[in-house]
Amino acid sequence: MHTHVNGITIAYSDRGAGLPIVFLHAFPLNRTMWEAQEYALSSQFRIITIDLRGHGESDAPLWRYTLDQSAHDVRALLDHLAIQQAMFVGLSMGGYILFAFYRKYPTRVKGLILADTRAQADTEEGKEGRFQMAQTAYKKGPAAIADIMIPKLLSPATVQTKPDLVQQVRAMIEGNQISGIAGDLMAMAERPDSVPLLSQITCPTQIIVGELDQATPPSDAKFMAEKIPGARLAIIPGAAHLANLEQPDTFSRIVSSFASDLAMNAKS
Ligand code: MLT
Repeated sequence: MHTHVNGITIAYSDRGAGLPIVFLHAFPLNRTMWEAQEYALSSQFRIITIDLRGHGESDAPLWRYTLDQSAHDVRALLDHLAIQQAMFVGLSMGGYILFAFYRKYPTRVKGLILADTRAQADTEEGKEGRFQMAQTAYKKGPAAIADIMIPKLLSPATVQTKPDLVQQVRAMIEGNQISGIAGDLMAMAERPDSVPLLSQITCPTQIIVGELDQATPPSDAKFMAEKIPGARLAIIPGAAHLANLEQPDTFSRIVSSFASDLAMNAKS
């Protein structure tokens, strides 16, 4: 499905009924990374997955990108779908966007799952790495970005033993336009520090991390879990950064259990 928000076309999927759960994908992927969760959860919940601005079937305008703007796109889509409040799942960049979303629209958030993400802003070295990656995208195209990103996203065992999954991730990355890749890199480099926000998050929150995640390691997840009042933490064995793709059943079970508790508390 497609809709027009904030001057661009945004693609999304909307399946099932019940508590709405909105899934925000990682950089530089698209909404199809949530297929296993959509399949596992849409018999119980209303599952909405979005191609964020710059990704998949959504427009990737050649202009300035910010994570606030992506949060604004998500809010506009919720308005379009007449959803006042939802539970959100954001993985990595999706989590960064959830911090921006929560800062602006806290009343729209019923519960948060922050997966394989971090609250800290980029270091100077991290920003320089983003700049270099944008130059690589511009000069060599998305296939070169896939070569760089795949070993950061998946565990060595996954890379060696699951060629179909590696190919799926590669196809998602190669399907992006350079404007979207470079735009995201600039947006992530400019994102503010969300550490001060953590203690102000008042909705139920679940943190998830792959035990082998090197991009946003378990230490970052533990830090968020300590700072967000009442947050739960789940560490998924045998998964790296894309925990939902490497251990889809475990990831879906955690989401389902958290969402069931939220739905039950809303009734009681
Ligand atoms: C992601 O998976 O979204 C990226 O690894 C996030 C980042 O580069 O900081």
